[in-house]
Amino acid sequence: MTENRVAVFRKENFNAAHRLHNPDWSDEKNARIFGKCNNPHYHGHNYDLIVQVTGAVDPETGYVFDMKILSDLIKEQVLDRFDHKNLNLDTREFRNLNPSAENIAIVIYKLLRDKIDTTLDLKIRLYETERNFVEYPVH
Ligand code: NI
Repeated sequence: MTENRVAVFRKENFNAAHRLHNPDWSDEKNARIFGKCNNPHYHGHNYDLIVQVTGAVDPETGYVFDMKILSDLIKEQVLDRFDHKNLNLDTREFRNLNPSAENIAIVIYKLLRDKIDTTLDLKIRLYETERNFVEYPVH
C-alpha cells in the first residue's frame, strides 16, 4: 500500500489570563520559581494554538479531516471555554491545575482527543509567546 498519510493543521488564537501558583509552597518560593507569572493579580497571554491531525487521505473526499469540522470542534471545545477567561478563576479545568503552557496543551489535547476518530493522530502546539511554545504529545 502506498504511503498516503498527511498532516493537516489548523491555527487558532485565544486570549486568557492566568497565574502560576503552587498552593503547597510559601509565597517566597512561588515568587522565586514562577517570577512574574506568580503575580497575584494575574496577567494575560495571547495564545496561538496549532492543532495537527495526521492520517490517511480519504480517497472519496481527498481529505484527512474536514477543516470546517476541525475549526468548529476547536471553537466549541477550546475557544468558547478559554478565550477571554481567567483560566484559574473561570474554568473548571484549571481550578486545581496550574495553568502552565504545558498543562494547557495537555488539557486541550484531551478535550479534542475525545472528539476525533482514533485512527487519526492528534498533536497540540501552543505558543504562550512568540518564543515560548510547547507540544503535546511527544513522540
Ligand atoms: Ni504567564
